[in-house]
Amino acid sequence: MNTEKSHSLFEEAKKYMPGGVNSPVRAYQAVKREPLFIKRAEKGYIYDVDGNSYVDFVCSWGPGILGHSHPQVIAAVQKACEDGLTFGAPTEKETILAKLISSLMPSMEMMRLVNSGTEAVMSVVRAARGFTGKNKVIKFNGCYHGHSDCMLVKAGSGLLTQSIPSGAGVPENCTKDTLIAEYNDISSVEKLIESNKGEIACVIIEPVAANMGVVPPKKEFLQELRKLTEDNGILLIFDEVITGFRLALGGAQEYYGVKPDLTSLGKIAGGGMPLAVYGGRRDIMENVAPIGKVYQAGTLSGNPIAVTAGIETLKILRENKNIYTELEKKSEILEKAFKGSGFNVNRVGSLLCPFFTDKKVESYTDALSSDTEKYAKYFSFMLEKGIYIAPSQFEAMFVSYAHTDEDIEKTAACIREAGKYMF
Ligand SMILES: Cc1ncc(COP(=O)(O)O)c(C=O)c1O
Repeated sequence: MNTEKSHSLFEEAKKYMPGGVNSPVRAYQAVKREPLFIKRAEKGYIYDVDGNSYVDFVCSWGPGILGHSHPQVIAAVQKACEDGLTFGAPTEKETILAKLISSLMPSMEMMRLVNSGTEAVMSVVRAARGFTGKNKVIKFNGCYHGHSDCMLVKAGSGLLTQSIPSGAGVPENCTKDTLIAEYNDISSVEKLIESNKGEIACVIIEPVAANMGVVPPKKEFLQELRKLTEDNGILLIFDEVITGFRLALGGAQEYYGVKPDLTSLGKIAGGGMPLAVYGGRRDIMENVAPIGKVYQAGTLSGNPIAVTAGIETLKILRENKNIYTELEKKSEILEKAFKGSGFNVNRVGSLLCPFFTDKKVESYTDALSSDTEKYAKYFSFMLEKGIYIAPSQFEAMFVSYAHTDEDIEKTAACIREAGKYMF
């Protein structure tokens, strides 16, 4: 595999950007390689600058549920560009997108459009604190909610990949009100609530943990969490930046039948453009400025191009009822290939993750028992075969609707070969 051009672009990039990248996990450090520089992507494939092509299961870390460059999305974006890139003033399309999201995810009675998942979470936590007048927040060990200060504690994903415990530059004062519970362990939440009675604004969770690899919630865990928060007057926030519109049109809240008070969305919601959303109960969201006292704003919020990509993507998902059944079928084939080849794999819908441990992975501690050296070996094997997966054990494998039966079969065959090579 020739990657000479990627190598020289990386050398140049390192001179101007830390690690040569604009988001740490892209640097491939955990798999001891250099990153590929990408030229273009179409359908289920991504193409690097050296002319290599790969079946893409990173899907830009989640947004690419329809694959890349869907013609309907591209055409709508091109047309929108002709009218101007940004106005800093309201457009009808923002309401169209908000209405669409509300119809697909009924808990989103009122919402705000923002630019990134990090911003959505930062703002939704502020809304919860503003509404309740309380400061403390419970998050779960290994769940990632973006890189705002108060969420950068035990945050899985990139930090775990780089072995950064919490993050320099985050003052203790910013995280002292962030309490850490164990994912899939309801008693750990009960204990925190008991010892911080009347002080907790909200519990925030990835309903399917997808930043410590993929870890599904145990049966009834989310239901118990809903009841516990309700009984104690604590708001429940689902961070559906990954799961929103991926597990089902109505996200994990539809998939598991649990209604949170507030939700953050991103990735698919922007159809590949920088857009994210936070919202939920009307009585809470009515506390956001300008009608309430919780301040949050943004120069490019609700950007017309990003909103257009979001609308088109969600419309395609809504109008093609078979997408989720197809995704399930394709993902099941990959899951079977993993299982039949000796891998320990977790899957929820079109999110998968093979772990290199004998333990059933149900928690952050279980995920940490995975052998990351083995993951690196597996990663390189797959890449050399033309399969592009996350360069870290602690990320998900994303299946897209654009992956053809042939792409899936080719990938399943590579997984079987990898099994022979690994075990
Ligand atoms: C669950 C979750 N929340 C929040 C974020 C942050 O989103 P962004 O990278 O758009 O800031 C991510 C990013 O992967 C995420 O997975």
